[in-house]
Amino acid sequence: MTTPDVMVIGAGAAGLFCAAQAGQLGLKVVLIDHAPKLAEKIRISGGGRCNFTNREATPANYVSENPHFARSALARYPSSEFIALVQRYGIAFHEKHKGQLFCDDSAEQIIRMLLTECERGGVERWQPCSVSDVQSDEAGGWRLQTDRGVVHTPQLVIATGGLPVPKIGATDFGLKLAERLGHRLVAPRTALVPLTFAANDWAPFVPMAGIAMPVCISTRTPTGGKGKKAFVETQFFEDLLFTHRGLSGPAVLQISSFWRPGHAITIDLLPGTDVLEHLLKAKQQSRRHLGNELAGLLTQRLADAWLQMLGVDGTQAMPQVPDAQLRRIAESLQAWSLTPAGTEGWNKAEVMAGGVDTRDLSSQTMASKHHPSLYFIGEVVDVTGWLGGYNFQWAWASAVACAQAL
Ligand code: FDA
Repeated sequence: MTTPDVMVIGAGAAGLFCAAQAGQLGLKVVLIDHAPKLAEKIRISGGGRCNFTNREATPANYVSENPHFARSALARYPSSEFIALVQRYGIAFHEKHKGQLFCDDSAEQIIRMLLTECERGGVERWQPCSVSDVQSDEAGGWRLQTDRGVVHTPQLVIATGGLPVPKIGATDFGLKLAERLGHRLVAPRTALVPLTFAANDWAPFVPMAGIAMPVCISTRTPTGGKGKKAFVETQFFEDLLFTHRGLSGPAVLQISSFWRPGHAITIDLLPGTDVLEHLLKAKQQSRRHLGNELAGLLTQRLADAWLQMLGVDGTQAMPQVPDAQLRRIAESLQAWSLTPAGTEGWNKAEVMAGGVDTRDLSSQTMASKHHPSLYFIGEVVDVTGWLGGYNFQWAWASAVACAQAL
């Protein structure tokens, strides 16, 4: 083959979209992916329906060492642009919750749309095809050693994603390459992931497995350098799910992106209710058992398990329950502070936080500041969206910023 104008490594969300856009702008594009199946992460996303964007995506919905980095790309390719594309393809979708848009039918429709966009751009796709070596060449471009031989390309885009779910093709290729070529990395960590607890600490909560409820969840993330004690508090109102090993559900996935090992999370299981006031009033007015009174606020199952966990007798009649005990119950429910032992790890995380340090990239073009013909887009960059379609929106927006600069 003749020399391409650009090679894109990684045919996931960002790589497919960037290749399609660049091809449609007239560039000769080769897109390479080592996985046998195309775009597995899109296929499994959103429970198979792909939460492909969020109507309300703004830079405030992203976690990064530089919260301003995503601003330019998101402004130039807002979610409305991707929604318009989905509509042009006649893909039916619906809004589930807080601006989150899902396909009515299947994530396959998004993959097919991206493939058609690539075909329209004349993109040549090599898949499966591995890249074993990348070196800069004398012409300021790149020499790639691939399964299909050596290829030279004047411009190279890295769209190899993050570390979650290694069994469907995630690798540290992009991170390693970035580091070798002189870019700083923000240490990768699991994000949008269930939190786990030491087996002994969690034993009292195991009977609650399966219970789901809306909560307010918060954590304090350290922001200062070494020796400085500055924190930023983040909170979400979302659903929580008790599991056998710890906590999951949207509330926990959201807070996991802000949680740091050794730090606590705080949960209000009854946001909007003053539990102490309720219990003190009930003590005056009700002859019910404590367990039944609490079941009116929670469920019978959670109330019983919660009292057992606290070692409180739920069969006491309300007038007999000491105020101190009511205070303890209320506090445990509304300011439940607990320190996770860890997370469910890369197999269960939806995204990677951290990645290629944005200080070494242009926010306008995603180009490396050390190698102007090298670009990083999508999840490999230290820009991590909240739960709710924000990560795909970053993939689309960073892909377009890059494609327009190639
Ligand atoms: P992506 O992971 O999509 O693509 C990277 C590609 O690079 C892969 O095809 C991989 O095979 C390839 N690659 C890796 N190493 C390579 C190498 N060495 N050589 C060649 N190719 C290589 N987000 C969202 O907004 N809404 C949602 O509904 C969901 N749902 C969801 C569910 C689950 C279970 C997960 C794990 C994740 C999500 N996400 C999500 C997150 C979303 O999938 C993710 O942020 C994007 O896919 C990132 O797009 P990228 O193109 O950067 O990486």
